[in-house]
Amino acid sequence: MSALTIAGAIAGAAYIVAALLFILSLAGLSRHERARGGVVYGIAGMTVALLATLWLMISDAWGAASGALGLSLLVVAVVIGAAIGLWRARTVQMTGMPELIALFHSFVGLAAVLVGWNGALHAEGIAPSLEGIHRGEVFIGVFIGAVTFTGSIVAYLKLSAKMSSRPLMLPGKNVLNVAALVLFVALTVWYVITPQLWLLVVVTALALALGWHLVASIGGGDMPVVISMLNSYSGWAAAAAGFLLNNDLLIVTGALVGSSGAYLSYIMCQAMNRSFISVIAGGFGIEAPAKGEEVTGTHRETDAVSVAELLTSASSVVITPGYGMAVAQAQYPVADLARRLRERGIEVRFGIHPVAGRLPGHMNVLLAEAKVPYDIVLEMDEINDDLADTDVVLVIGANDTVNPAAAQDPGSPIAGMPVLRVWEARNVVVFKRSMASGYAGVANPLFYRDNAQMLFGDAKERVQDILSAL
Ligand code: TAP
Repeated sequence: MSALTIAGAIAGAAYIVAALLFILSLAGLSRHERARGGVVYGIAGMTVALLATLWLMISDAWGAASGALGLSLLVVAVVIGAAIGLWRARTVQMTGMPELIALFHSFVGLAAVLVGWNGALHAEGIAPSLEGIHRGEVFIGVFIGAVTFTGSIVAYLKLSAKMSSRPLMLPGKNVLNVAALVLFVALTVWYVITPQLWLLVVVTALALALGWHLVASIGGGDMPVVISMLNSYSGWAAAAAGFLLNNDLLIVTGALVGSSGAYLSYIMCQAMNRSFISVIAGGFGIEAPAKGEEVTGTHRETDAVSVAELLTSASSVVITPGYGMAVAQAQYPVADLARRLRERGIEVRFGIHPVAGRLPGHMNVLLAEAKVPYDIVLEMDEINDDLADTDVVLVIGANDTVNPAAAQDPGSPIAGMPVLRVWEARNVVVFKRSMASGYAGVANPLFYRDNAQMLFGDAKERVQDILSAL
């Protein structure tokens, strides 16, 4: 066996080890208690994969001028990428994670487009019998990559509020999406038969426009699903690049990311009572944006001292946190409040909506960080039936996830989305800074209910005020 084949065999074995570590990582990440182990497996898998790739390049470079160039490019890319990755990961706020993830997905998409183009421009050395397959791979890779690229950029712009979160409603938008898919299939067949570069240019432009349109058509409330859907697309884009580069690890890893992302999107759609197909098809079947009923009435304002009194006279309290708790970083005083109330013999539990915050599991991570015991942190379905029997619900920086319009107003844009039925409790205190609506841009009738009171201001400061009053 030549030195090069031995090197290839060793790298191939290392890739299998890395793929297994990635599978263990996914398995670990599916449970709270094992999540830390899951992250360690993931890091180990990525280290093995990087070392194996480096090893392959070194053995390739041995004695060849072009190999040495490849190696130096790899080292430069890894150093720059690692430096930017480290810097961003250290500085990003937890609330900014979805934007960062969306941006990362766009890089995967762009990489798949570049790999595809490279495959088209340097197709020499491919056996004639495999040329058709190669061209098909190029087209599919470029298409998925370009859809992921612009789709992720729109998601980034929407999540960072640089673009309106309202759905774009072009006339005949569903027909446009279906026509784009049909055109893609026709162009692929054409390219496989007669490979001409202009076809690749057209499909790239088509996919860039489709990615933009698909995500722009989705309303704010459905954005969580879009993020995990783009995660899935980025996986498939990586797998397509793996086929072109003949890299088994990229194929396996891409398929893992693609299928786990698709499954997560499915679970989230179920949790939000949305049709999976409708969301992945860019809001297919969702017509003109509903406005929902006009919300009018007067709200009641309260202060920290009165809330402290209300809490001390209660025997059961449920806290439903949302995005505002993350913005205010109020999890530590909230955990303190829960502990102090429990010491007084008051039953305190947390009710977590599946899409509270800005990324799956956001609230659970914050509460775990503040050392709130797992056993008092319940999922929406576990707590909803108990809310009617609860003395006080503290809604801390949550809005859409506790909006009665979802359950009671069929014309609301979030109609049908399951919510925490906090309005059934005897008393509800809403912590927020103003009467503004939440992420989905829908007015909230909860604020005007007779049993609801508003405690205005930054959630962290207000909870600290309550702690002082206690
Ligand atoms: P939202 O509906 O976004 O409401 C958060 C509320 O927090 C706002 O109304 C805001 O009101 C208040 N707030 C902001 N900063 C605050 C501060 N410093 N102190 C006190 N209050 C503050 O949050 P939610 O109930 O958690 O719902 C999540 C929404 O995000 C859903 O629509 C969901 O679909 C969407 N989303 C979720 C995800 C995932 S996966 N979880 C991803 C993307 C989008 P003021 O401005 O008046 O203070």
